[in-house]
Formats: sequence, C-alpha cells, structure tokens
Amino acid sequence: QAISILKEFEEKCGTPISKLKQVADAMTVEMHAGLASEGGSKLKMIISYVDNLPTGDEKGLFYALDLGGTNFRVLRVHLGGKEHRVVKQEFEEVSIPPHLMTGSSDALFDYIASALAKFVATESEGLHFSPDRQRELGFTFSFPVRQTSISSGTLIKWTKGFSIDDTVGQDVVGELTKAMERTGLDMRVTALVNDTIGTLAGGRYNNPDVVAAVILGTGTNAAYVERAHAIPKWHGLLPKSGDMVINMEWGNFRSSHLPITEYDQALDAESLNPGEQIFEKIISGMYLGEIVRRVLCKMAEEAAFFGDTVPAKLKIPFILRTPHMSAMHHDTSPDLKIVAAKLKDILEISNTSLKMRKVIVELCDIVASRGARLSAAGIVGILKKIGRDTVKDGEKQKSVVSLDGGLYEHYTKFRTCMEDTLVELLGEEVSNNIVVEHSNDGSGIGAALLAASHSQYTEADE
Ligand code: BG6
Ligand code: GLC
Repeated sequence: QAISILKEFEEKCGTPISKLKQVADAMTVEMHAGLASEGGSKLKMIISYVDNLPTGDEKGLFYALDLGGTNFRVLRVHLGGKEHRVVKQEFEEVSIPPHLMTGSSDALFDYIASALAKFVATESEGLHFSPDRQRELGFTFSFPVRQTSISSGTLIKWTKGFSIDDTVGQDVVGELTKAMERTGLDMRVTALVNDTIGTLAGGRYNNPDVVAAVILGTGTNAAYVERAHAIPKWHGLLPKSGDMVINMEWGNFRSSHLPITEYDQALDAESLNPGEQIFEKIISGMYLGEIVRRVLCKMAEEAAFFGDTVPAKLKIPFILRTPHMSAMHHDTSPDLKIVAAKLKDILEISNTSLKMRKVIVELCDIVASRGARLSAAGIVGILKKIGRDTVKDGEKQKSVVSLDGGLYEHYTKFRTCMEDTLVELLGEEVSNNIVVEHSNDGSGIGAALLAASHSQYTEADE
C-alpha cells in the first residue's frame, strides 16, 4: 500500500515535456503581464534600477552585505580596475539566530550592523580609508523589494524562513542605516540589490555573454537583462544603455500547469506565507526535504510503512532538511547505508529493509526531479522572452545564465537533471549556444561592483 501512495504521488508530480513547455510558455506570458503594469501578474517583475552592468573598470575598496540565504555574509572587496580585477576579497559568514527571523526589525538589523562593525574593525592598516571618505556598501537583500532607486526600496513581503511584520513596507536601507547609526558605524549603502541581481552583475563581470541569473538555494528566483523600451510600466528616462535589469521574483509564479499535490497544498497552508511563493515551494531547498517528510508521514500513517506506530520524529515539520534528502538520494552503496544512517540519526528510525530504503530513494528522486525540471522550464521561459530560444541563421551567439545557490551547488542530481531538461526542452542546436555557469558567491562581489559603480565619489577623488 505504501507503494501505491508513492505511485500516486509520482503520477501527480509528472512533468512530461509537453507540460514543461506549457509552464515555459506561461512563464513568458506572465513576464509580459508583470512588465505591463504594477500588479499585472503574480510575477512582480521588479525594476532594479540597474541599467549598467559591471565593465571591469570598477576600482576601490567596497563592502557588501548579503542577507537572505542560508548564511548572512559580510564581504570586503578590493577592486583594481581592468588590469587587476578583484585584487582581494575577504568575507565572514554568520548564521542568523532563528529567533531573529521572526522577531523585530530593529533586533534583526542591529544584529547585522554589529556583525558588519566587527568585520570593518578587522580592516588592515594598509587598506584604511582617508578620514573624509565614507566607507561604501552594496547591500544584497534577497527578498522582494519595491525599488525606489538604486539605493533604496521598501520590503513588499518576507519570504523563506523570515517573517517580521514591522519591516514590511519599510525602506530596508533606512532600517540598516538606522541600525548602523545605533552601532556607531559610519557607512553608506550605495546599492541595494536582490541576490539574483548581484549574481547577474558578478556573472557579467566575468563573462560579457551573461544575460540572466538564477538562484536555486533556500529560495528560488531569476533576474535578466530586459530592453527598457519593452517595459511599459517604466516611466523613467530611457537609460543610455537601453537596458534595465529585472528581478522577476519567479518564486511567486503560479500556473494551472504546475503539478501540485495534496502534500504541497498542506505544506503551503501551514507555511509562514500561505498562498504565496508556490513555484518556490515545489522547487527550492527550503522545502524539498519537507515534501519528502510529508509523503513519508502519510506512508507511515496510512500504510504502516515504518511499523505499527508512526515514528515521533517524523511528525516534526522541517526536521528532514534538503541536504539530508540529497545525501540519501546520492547513496550508491549496495545496501543503501547512508539512507539507513540518515533515517536513524535524524528520524530515529532503525531496522529498515533494503526494499524500504529503495522506496525512500525513489521518493527523493520524484521530488528533486519535479523541482529541477520545473526550474529548467522557467529558464526556457526567460530565453523565450528575450528571443534566445531559437537559433537564427546558424548564429553562434552564446547566452550565458549564471546560477548560484546551495541547491544548485551541492545537490548534484538536481543540477544534472535541470541541465539535461534544458537540453531536452531546447533541442541540441539551441542548447549549444546556451551555457549554464556556476557563479560562486557572485552575488556578494556583484553587490560590491554595483556599490562601486554607484559610488558618491568620482575617480578624481581617489
Ligand atoms: C549565495 C549568494 O551564493 O547564494 C547569496 O551569494 C544567495 O546571495 C545564496 O542568497 C542562495 O543560496 P542559499 O542556498 O544560501 O539560499
Ligand atoms: C526568495 C526571495 C527572492 C530571492 C530568492 C532566492 O524567492 O523572495 O528575492 O531572490 O528567494 O534567494
């Protein structure tokens, strides 16, 4: 009977190519709608105010803050211009105590500001700034923000594991600046960016063919370079470059073509943000392990998969994390001993048969494949929107997509499945022109590069 629960789930999760094409088309349609008017789509298609991507000329010492992934990061980047590029890069990683993710705005920003202050204090002698020059900062804030300029924007809503009511509607740069003042730190945020924008900027710095960036991590999202005149809701001046980078916030995408199961519905209903981020909840790292747990729970409750009683630990939401799932999924030992070990260590389940462990690996495969294939469909949606999904006159124009995030980086089967599905969807010829490139921590460097290009000082001040 457990097998029939699994089979039914597998069927509901199905992502045949025909369905993925519908998802890709729906993504393109929603992109148009979101660009047409504010509130025109579930896709917010946020105007980032980044109309110039890094050129390589950026120079100087800049800081970056990166909030919203698994870890909070502070970085110091020494940029040396075309010749020397990134001369030096230092960073520190701090985890955000869980209570601060659902506490008060001041408490969260005070924590961040004090981590930044400690990091600034480690600045070595040779690097120090002249006393009349303020340190400048690129702030990567990986949540949906309505940008009001390159260096300001109000929080639309929290996503992933964060939920702090009093930040919503506030200018997050204002919140950070106040916290820095309380901490006695004199610094100025010159660029506020989403992680997708930072990744795009970092990617472009290394490769001029980068046209889009995708994050597959705790959450999922994408950004791409749009032609400014193709953005009806943009009423500002036409930028010189003619381009404007768009933060899609694709995590909030939804479509009747998405394969959604009862487990996804229950996960959503019990989440911090019910009804929101539906695409994210079937794709990203925060949720994949939890979906697996929910299916196992049902198998335990209704088919006594683990014996007469339902293992107590299995009932705890989010106890099974995606890295655990990944470890089980990649288990190549003949007796699946990693699966056995994870079940024992995390869920306190022992004495599983090999057959049961195989069922669990299959379950991981179903959940990961659905997410990976849907993310490929999302990428194809973007390529369609910018006309890079076909080959014109044997053209060899490369389109590079920068990818980052823990899910992409560490979950090999997810990554391979995503990349294989891209080829399946685009066909061999087009795929030869599409490159998926890992941009390791590009978003931190990207934020520093954008902080540099929006510095209040001109080069003459240096
Ligand atoms: C990092 C980026 O590499 O990936 C972050 O620098 C981003 O800005 C993160 O948020 C996403 O990954 P994860 O897995 O930590 O959510
Ligand atoms: C969530 C956030 C989005 C971010 C993504 C990846 O979807 O809303 O802003 O880019 O996670 O970190």
